[in-house]
Amino acid sequence: MDVAILGYGVVGSGTARLLEKISGDAALRALPLRLKYILDIRDFPGDPLERLVTHNFNAILGDPDVRVVAETMGGLHPAFEYVLACLRAGKSVVTSNKELVAAKGYALLQAARENNANFLFEGSVGGGIPIIRPLSQCLCANEIAEVAGILNGTTNFILTRMLGDAMPFGRALQMAQENGYAERDPSADIGGADACRKICILATLAFGRHVYPEQVRTEGIEGITPEDAAYADRLDCSIKLLARAKRLPDGRITACVAPMLVPREGSLLACVSDVNNAILIRGDAVGDVIFYGRGAGPEPTASAVVADILDCARHIDRRRHFEWEDGAPDYVAPAEDDIAKFYARVSCDDEPSARKQVLQAFPGASFIEIDGARPGDLAFVILPTKDGQMRAALAGLAGVKAEMVMRVAGF
Ligand code: HSE
Repeated sequence: MDVAILGYGVVGSGTARLLEKISGDAALRALPLRLKYILDIRDFPGDPLERLVTHNFNAILGDPDVRVVAETMGGLHPAFEYVLACLRAGKSVVTSNKELVAAKGYALLQAARENNANFLFEGSVGGGIPIIRPLSQCLCANEIAEVAGILNGTTNFILTRMLGDAMPFGRALQMAQENGYAERDPSADIGGADACRKICILATLAFGRHVYPEQVRTEGIEGITPEDAAYADRLDCSIKLLARAKRLPDGRITACVAPMLVPREGSLLACVSDVNNAILIRGDAVGDVIFYGRGAGPEPTASAVVADILDCARHIDRRRHFEWEDGAPDYVAPAEDDIAKFYARVSCDDEPSARKQVLQAFPGASFIEIDGARPGDLAFVILPTKDGQMRAALAGLAGVKAEMVMRVAGF
C-alpha cells in the first residue's frame, strides 16, 4: 500500500524521516507500507528522498495504489481542495493542519464518510501528545465540562525564556523558529490564532458541535512586559497563554484564548515550561485528567502523523469513528459575559486619584506592590466580574490608561 505526503516542510520532512526509519519494523512489514510521493513546489537536490519529490498533485490523485495521504502543507488553500479531492477519490487522509481541521473539519469528515475513507488529525493538537483519540474515544462515556490548557509550544517557549531567563522576545522567538516550533508566519503563534484553532478542535470533540475560530475571543502574548512578570511573581503566579472551552448550563459553550496568571501553588499548568503543552480535561465520571508532552517540533508531530497513517492503513475500507454536528452562530456565548478574576496594570498621572477610583469601580480590588515599580504604574486584582463590565469600568476611570488586562486562572 502506497503513501503520499503533501508538503515537505518541517512536519512533512519529519514524517517522511520517521516513516523511512520504521519501514524495517515488523509491524510495518506486515502491512506493507511504502512512501511513494512527496508533493512540494520546491526541489530538494541532495535530499535522500529527492527521488520521491513531485510537483504534480494529479499524479498522486490518479494513482490507485496510493490509499493514504498525509497533508502537512499547512494553511487552508490549496490544502482543503487537495484533501477534499483525495477523500472523494476514496483515499484516507491524515493531517497535522489545525487551521484546516478547525475551519473545514466538519465538511471533510462528511466527505470521508460519503467515500468510505478516513480523515484523522491526531497531529493537529498538542504535537506528539495523544489527545484526539483519548478525548473522542477513551473519555466518550463522560459528559465533558471543560477543556483547558497550554496549546502552543512556541509561545510557551518564549514566555519561559522571557520571564524565567530574562531573554529578549526577539531572541526567544528566533530560537523557537530554529527548533521548528513556530508556524511559517509566527504571528499565528504570538497572536493566539494557532491556540485558537486547537481549542476549537478540542471543544468540537468534547462537546459534539463544530466550533469555528471566529467564534472564539483570542488574545496573544504581544502586550506582556517585564513589569507584568514582576507583578505576577509578587502574586506567586506564572504567565501562560491558555486556551479554554467550557460547557454552559443552557447548552451553549464559552471559549477563549488569552494570556493568564496561573498560581504556582495548586495549578499543574504553572510548571509546564518550554515547548511543552498540557491539556486538562474535566469529565463527570473520570474527574480531571491531564495530558502533557512536547507540543511542537518535527519529531513529536511526526509521531502523531505516522500513527494516523498506520491507523488508516490498518483500517482500509473500514471507518474510524469521528462524528460531530455542525456549529451555529449562537452556540458560543459572547466573551463579554465570561466571569473571571482579573489582573490589570494601568498607567496614570495622579496615583492617589487612580487608587480611589479603582476601589470605587471594583469593590474588593487589591493592589499589588512591588519594589522599583515605575512611577504612575498601578497593578491590581479585580474580584470575579463579567468581562464586558470590567472592561467598561476600566475604560471609565478618569486619567487612567489600561496597559494590560489578564485573567487569573482558577485551574
Ligand atoms: N506552532 C505550533 C506551536 C506548532 O508552537 O505549538 C505545533 O502545532
